[in-house]
Amino acid sequence: MKAVVVYYSKTGFSKRYAEWISEELACKAVSYEDRGSIKWDQYDVILFGGGFHAGKINGLKWFKAKLPELAGKKIIVFATGSMPPEAAEVETTMKANFTQAQWNQVKTFYLWGGLCYEKMDSRDKLMMSVLRKALKILKKTEMLEAVSSSYDKASKEYLAPLLQYVRSGLSES
Ligand SMILES: Cc1cc2nc3c(=O)[nH]c(=O)nc-3n(C[C@H](O)[C@H](O)[C@H](O)COP(=O)(O)O)c2cc1C
Repeated sequence: MKAVVVYYSKTGFSKRYAEWISEELACKAVSYEDRGSIKWDQYDVILFGGGFHAGKINGLKWFKAKLPELAGKKIIVFATGSMPPEAAEVETTMKANFTQAQWNQVKTFYLWGGLCYEKMDSRDKLMMSVLRKALKILKKTEMLEAVSSSYDKASKEYLAPLLQYVRSGLSES
């Protein structure tokens, strides 16, 4: 079985996870920009990942439009984000990105990323400053502290369930 991982990464977290997946599964990692080069027929396992952006997964709109064409393949979607993996919002936010039919077709995983102000574009920096102001007004001190500076929580350990899921499929063949 052959796999490919496609990633949409704005500040590098999803790219890093895609590269780890590529190493672990000995498969190609392709950036969103290069997605036109993918020969979909060659693959049985397709992984797509991007960062959460105000609840939405970056690049997912395109990938969801592709899903009908990928019927019968094993599809995995991963999202990276700044919320801790144990947060209750992880599942609800993930699910809200899909219709029920899409949800039945894909298996999703959340991979803890972090925040990188240094690599954010100006629009995202502005969005974050609006968020910080709102949290300040609402006196959500803990949440405000959590988004006030860059941090990096990405770790290979968060990949274990995803790799196990893909590999269990591979051994079936
Ligand atoms: C404007 C903006 C909105 C974000 N919204 C969310 C969010 O809704 N949930 C979350 O967990 N993380 C959120 N984040 C954090 C990113 O999802 C996180 O940094 C992610 O790992 C980025 O992945 P990338 O570097 O591959 O693009 C947001 C970051 C920015 C800049």
